[in-house]
Amino acid sequence: MKVNICGIEFKNPVIAASGTYGFGKEYSEFYDVGELGGISTKGLTINKKEGNEGIRIHETSSGILNSVGLQNPGIESFINEELPEMMKMNTVIMANIGGGTLEDYLQAVDKINKTDVDMIELNISCPNVKDGGMAFGIKSKVAYEVVSKVRSICKKPLIVKLSPNAEDIVDMAVKCQEAGADSISLVNTFKGMAIDIKTKKPVFNNVTAGLSGPAIKPIALRMVYEVCKEVSIPVIGMGGITTWKDAVEFIMAGAHAIQVGTANFMNPYAALEIVQGIKEYMNKEGIKDLSEIRGII
Ligand SMILES: Cc1cc2nc3c(=O)[nH]c(=O)nc-3n(C[C@H](O)[C@H](O)[C@H](O)COP(=O)(O)O)c2cc1C
Repeated sequence: MKVNICGIEFKNPVIAASGTYGFGKEYSEFYDVGELGGISTKGLTINKKEGNEGIRIHETSSGILNSVGLQNPGIESFINEELPEMMKMNTVIMANIGGGTLEDYLQAVDKINKTDVDMIELNISCPNVKDGGMAFGIKSKVAYEVVSKVRSICKKPLIVKLSPNAEDIVDMAVKCQEAGADSISLVNTFKGMAIDIKTKKPVFNNVTAGLSGPAIKPIALRMVYEVCKEVSIPVIGMGGITTWKDAVEFIMAGAHAIQVGTANFMNPYAALEIVQGIKEYMNKEGIKDLSEIRGII
């Protein structure tokens, strides 16, 4: 089940998705998180962020809308308080980095460069912060500029996380590769909204929020498939993955690894069960290495 992405070895292709797994601590109460291939941290910003006011999570048919707004303790606090514990978890650690401006990203990457974090996942796709975030992930030209600048100072393997709200997801992936990304991860949440018909107001203070969970899976899978056909760097697929069967579909669409997000909220064992399910499937089908099924579509 091993996969290698940009020279980093994962014991299996299952990674906990950013913002749905904290820093791994709470899930450690359920199982050994070292059983997973990796963990992507909650999105980190140079300064601590309290996140958005009002409702932050709203359930929808087969999914959730969230408007957390990148609540996090800030990079310094992450490095001093959280990272030492994470480094003991015996799994690949990705620092997910968010930012409002290019300068924010550069400062954050510079700080992470000096740590033992394995990889950086640059989030140019957060729909819930006012400036930056997803603003960098809509137009390929803007993303190219940001990724090029980050690449020039980044000393870790650089994964760029794309928004499904990009104008053209394939062009976006190609431009990020040209700008020096070592890997692409997709998708972040889809921009959506909900209205409270009692108060006659939007559920979220920001009006819109990000949709995730099983509802987005077929679209996310299609995007991963299309991107995998056009880039030569490894792709990490996600969006609505809830069972090992979903994960296998993403691998068949071309993904090297997959991330599990919202499913962790429905079942804290989801990611672990996906690891076990893929293993059993491989045994049953006589698959010795995931490369035998990767991108077979
Ligand atoms: C509550 C919540 C918080 C999230 N926070 C982040 C974040 O900080 N950084 C990021 O890159 N993605 C964040 N995401 C997006 C997920 O990592 C993932 O890309 C998305 O939810 C799609 O996968 P899923 O359908 O398996 O949840 C968040 C998602 C949710 C539901």
